[in-house]
Amino acid sequence: MRVLSGIQPTGRPHWGNFFGAIRQYIDLQEENDGYYFIADLHALTTVRDPELLRGYVLDAALDLLALGLDPAKATMFVQSEVPEVSELNWLLLSGAPMGLLERCHAYKEKKDKGIAANAGLFTYPVLMSADILAYDSEIVPVGEDQVQHIEVCRDLAGSFNHSFGETFVLPKAKTLDVGAKVPGTDGQKMSKSYDNTLPLFGEVKKIRKQIMRITTDSRPMEDAKEPEGDHLYDLYRLFADDESIAEMAAMYRRGGFGYGEVKKAVAEASETFFADARQKRTELENNLDYVHQTLRDGAEQARSVAGEVLSRAQKACGIR
Ligand code: TYM
Repeated sequence: MRVLSGIQPTGRPHWGNFFGAIRQYIDLQEENDGYYFIADLHALTTVRDPELLRGYVLDAALDLLALGLDPAKATMFVQSEVPEVSELNWLLLSGAPMGLLERCHAYKEKKDKGIAANAGLFTYPVLMSADILAYDSEIVPVGEDQVQHIEVCRDLAGSFNHSFGETFVLPKAKTLDVGAKVPGTDGQKMSKSYDNTLPLFGEVKKIRKQIMRITTDSRPMEDAKEPEGDHLYDLYRLFADDESIAEMAAMYRRGGFGYGEVKKAVAEASETFFADARQKRTELENNLDYVHQTLRDGAEQARSVAGEVLSRAQKACGIR
């Protein structure tokens, strides 16, 4: 199966990115033809500092490789290095209904939070559709927040096919049961735009501090608590094995514990969980030539696929 997904380089990748999406990339690369990219064109709608953007792109590449993306099994590249996607974007934009984009949650949420909207942000799901369709992608592993965008992609592809004949493959979103919506330190969805993220890498001490600041309710310590729906418990569940999760749930139901204990357990479990990746990341930082070469090879491979799909779409709609 052709599998594709992307991550925006708008800051350091966080636990939500890993448990919702990156973990799937790594599992799926074994049996499938994977295309994974760093969406710098999307990031441009919010990051307006060239040095920062370049840094975030490199960080994302290092993180993906450190976490286990294997260039021998999957193609990894930077979105903007495949200009065919931007051409395809226009073909799709020209037929994208305004109403469809106005209904997109990600745009509405950002607008409601007072984040200044620009046309790039508004048409973001169309560029995302171009990303997906350019590689005849069948499966798109994502977190829950991106599912609606993949529905938009199916709509746009379906209506293009209807107008111009079978051109695009209709993709399907793939989400996980646990991890599709990882909560942030304030209990809302973890998101770089809400400033509530816990990063995958970075200074351990600093991350520990952030974990200790996770908001909790103020029920007395003696009270029994229901673990389901508690965001601290949900975070613990991401890292622990079944037995430890059951013990934690039992502790919640007995009561008589402090949230500080749970936070400490989250910190320890997360440090152990990412220890190998952290070491691999340090090795990669000392081997940047390899990272750049991987991205160059990836872009070349990606362009060869996207070029064919673009010319198929151009011919279909009368551009060539
Ligand atoms: P981005 O960079 O916001 O997030 C990357 C991936 O992480 C997932 N994710 C989460 N999953 C669970 N819980 C969370 N709290 C959480 N936060 C983020 C996202 O669902 C995503 O899968 N538009 C995309 C990038 C993109 C893309 C594409 C994805 C561009 N083109 C084509 C798929 C296909 C984005 O902003 O992801």
